[in-house]
Amino acid sequence: MATSAPPIPRVELAYAPTPLLKLERLSAELGVELWVKRDDLTGLLETGNKIRKLEFLVGEALAQRADTLITCGTLQSNCCRCVAAVCARLGLRAVLALKGAQPAEYDGNLLLDRLLGADIRYCTDAEWAKIDETLHDIAARERAQGRTPYIIPESGATVVGALGYLACGQEVAQQVRHGAPEFDTIAITDFSGGSQAGLLMAKQLTGLRAEIVGVPIAWEAARVRAYVTDVIERARSRFGLAVRPPAEVRLLDGYQGVGRAAVRKDELDTMLKLARVEGIVLDPVYTAKAFTGLLDTLRRDPRALGRRVCFVHTGGVFSVFPYRAALSRLVDGDGLVES
Ligand SMILES: Cc1ncc(COP(=O)(O)O)c(C=O)c1O
Repeated sequence: MATSAPPIPRVELAYAPTPLLKLERLSAELGVELWVKRDDLTGLLETGNKIRKLEFLVGEALAQRADTLITCGTLQSNCCRCVAAVCARLGLRAVLALKGAQPAEYDGNLLLDRLLGADIRYCTDAEWAKIDETLHDIAARERAQGRTPYIIPESGATVVGALGYLACGQEVAQQVRHGAPEFDTIAITDFSGGSQAGLLMAKQLTGLRAEIVGVPIAWEAARVRAYVTDVIERARSRFGLAVRPPAEVRLLDGYQGVGRAAVRKDELDTMLKLARVEGIVLDPVYTAKAFTGLLDTLRRDPRALGRRVCFVHTGGVFSVFPYRAALSRLVDGDGLVES
């Protein structure tokens, strides 16, 4: 990492570098060169973006001699499943505080959480409303049993987590140095915006030319921008990185749809389109919403983001399965994909 400060603890977990693939048919259709960075293939259970954040979060946890990782999310949280997988791999204990009641049957990420041996605490709405307190209560109980817990907030949204996407951006810069094309824009899905913040820091530290554009899928734009700015400022003050918040955090706004857990027909159409035209499966909760925003932008103006655009596929494939009912209706429909 480009810093004179002491090395930041990191545990190598991701299978990286992940490939850069050109979407040949979609590029021809849209009239713009469209690529995908396959961060859905980061390994350890096709884990997606969270494993990159966990490289640094677990690095910090182990430096603090933690033996238990505690985190929280929805029943289909990708981050929670990733924490469960990493804990199983490293011999740590995982405690997941999940929003909602225990379902009659496990599915998708929750099924994997249980398969991987994570301990689940189902949170009522009241517990979820004060989730920070709930996580600290869980940590206190773990401590009382002689364990050393480390808390990871939802989505790994801390400055330490964002370093994972600084590393991803450094990886792209290296791929470019080794012959991959220069992109005009790199687009990424935003929940908190931590991954976008990491890429923005990499742009400043490596000279990556691409504009870094986020597509918020849940939070409103102002909240994402404030979070991205805050993370970059913290990275400078805490780690001495030569980074500063950009004058403008660029977003494709307005594609939050009907909320994180709900999914609209146009988002499912996007999934079907990419699956059938390029053989790449998006997830309904995050990447389908963001890719819908990207496609809409490029259909309106193929040059809106420059000549060559790269979408970072941040994973989430296991949440396809809990949406089986809506997807079944779609694939058994008239077979036409809206375009
Ligand atoms: C598949 C997927 N993509 C993107 C994101 C967004 O990550 P961030 O919180 O860093 O914006 C998440 C995390 O919530 C995710 O699970």
